Amino acid sequence: MEVSHDLLILGSGLAGLRATVEAARVSKGELDIAIISRVQLMRSHSVCAEGGTAAVMRPEEGDSLELHAWDTVRGSDFLADQDVVSLFVQESPREIVQLEHWGIPWSRRPDGRINQRPFGGHSFDRAVFAEDKTGFFEMHTLYDTLQKYARVTRYDECYATSILIENGVFQGVTVWNLTTGEFFLIRGKALIIATGGACRMFSFTTYSFTATGDGMAMAYRAGMPLKDMEFVQFHPTGLVPSGILITEGARGEGGYLKNNKGERFMEKYAPSKMETAPRDIVSRSETTEILEGRGFKSPEGMDYVHLDLTHLGAQKINERLPLIREVTIKFAFLDPIEKPIPVRPAAHYCMGGIHTNIEGATPVKGIWAAGEAACVSLHGANRLGSNSTAECLVWGKITGDKAARYAMAQKSLPPALQKKVQEEEKRVFEQVGHGDGSEDVYVIRNELQKMMDNNVGVYRTGPQMEEALKKIRELKQRIKRVKVKDNSRIYNTNLINVIETTNLIELAEVIVVGGLARTESRGAHSRRDFPNRDDVNWGKHTLASYTTDGPKLDYSPVAMTMWQPVERKY
Ligand code: FUM
Repeated sequence: MEVSHDLLILGSGLAGLRATVEAARVSKGELDIAIISRVQLMRSHSVCAEGGTAAVMRPEEGDSLELHAWDTVRGSDFLADQDVVSLFVQESPREIVQLEHWGIPWSRRPDGRINQRPFGGHSFDRAVFAEDKTGFFEMHTLYDTLQKYARVTRYDECYATSILIENGVFQGVTVWNLTTGEFFLIRGKALIIATGGACRMFSFTTYSFTATGDGMAMAYRAGMPLKDMEFVQFHPTGLVPSGILITEGARGEGGYLKNNKGERFMEKYAPSKMETAPRDIVSRSETTEILEGRGFKSPEGMDYVHLDLTHLGAQKINERLPLIREVTIKFAFLDPIEKPIPVRPAAHYCMGGIHTNIEGATPVKGIWAAGEAACVSLHGANRLGSNSTAECLVWGKITGDKAARYAMAQKSLPPALQKKVQEEEKRVFEQVGHGDGSEDVYVIRNELQKMMDNNVGVYRTGPQMEEALKKIRELKQRIKRVKVKDNSRIYNTNLINVIETTNLIELAEVIVVGGLARTESRGAHSRRDFPNRDDVNWGKHTLASYTTDGPKLDYSPVAMTMWQPVERKY
């Protein structure tokens, strides 16, 4: 079976929906657009975004585009491309106003103006928010807006397995409909990949279970390089023991981090910013406290520190952080109005992703990427909180516009090779029943996650990453021996697990190979054996290309259009 549309959007999170709206808008509703999502559309991980979206909204009160750009570049540990940052800070306020016009209920100040809260690494209260459910409201607003356009077809619960490219030009995507079992080709003139990140390769993570890096892995196998994958962000406040996100907005609203002596330990590590220092620094500080015995013991073996909101009072918590209160009561069985919350760093975000230029175009003709799946080089080695939802909106819009115009200019669909589709179908389903059954995919995934937590976490060393690489290569072999026991094609979660885990292993290899090669500490890549930043040798982006023997590394320069690197102190 085969279907076709002009423009395919792979992924239905914030970047994917914003791209869809823009493509429909620039084509005046004429373009035939398909959204392909492995989940029901509103179940994308973006609904979990909590704290805010960064934008300069108050120049008259002292904020400026230059200040936002400087905070982002300094936060990135000077690995962000500064032309990209400059475009971002200009466009982000427009997105806030655009969403306002589309009906989002932004939280307001008493004077009725859009409110903003402090966030880590920003030197101004810059995070626009909707309570502590910002992503949820942004997604709903975009979903509502999408209803205006008739020529948008949804392929919900359709799991993409490969991206087809011929002679450097995009052809289509192979898709497995999980609800009917059909396997088919969706042809298109253009594609935007907006499938999110890959932190499900860690066990303690803020990610939804469905965010398994599939788009990144498909792009990588199809020949698109992945950029700067060794930079993985650990959010300082993952709820113990589940890993559920406790928004940085909680510290932005005045929450304290405390060790087992009751000390606000951030005073030692970032005295000027305290709890709202950038995430790489706060996560390292927490880890140091825990490793040096000043954490709290957890029955699950996950030592933690306290996030104390008790001094904020019931009214502020109920008004600004209602979700945090609900989640803490339900998942940690305590009320943050009365007691501190147990937290520790949790894998939260991939700074790296599919290599794109400033317009979100990948090296393949007809393919763009946006949001966390992409690496447009906005965040460098460490992303500032609230810059990611803003990035999804800004590059959702840009890629939607560019891809739509490209698709409109193409007279016909590129030919697609049915033989390739048959081969892909065989590759996907031959895993059912074919391994010798000596391995179990759930055991393999568990081993991968535990190893990534232990060896490729907040701090890393060469020997730890060597051990990780050995394990990854062992898992790559072992997963071939898994026998998928469920032979149904309908919602075969056993097979989905094999595909996801294969993708996660592949991406873990890219992270570790890039991390081993990068013999310095920069942003979230913090090596105990190379504790300093090395601008002379490592002020460059890593590009990893797929080969059957593992990733091949190349490097590309960082665009330093405004500032040269300086020491990063907070
Ligand atoms: O803490 C948070 O609300 C997360 C925001 C972000 O990752 O940008």
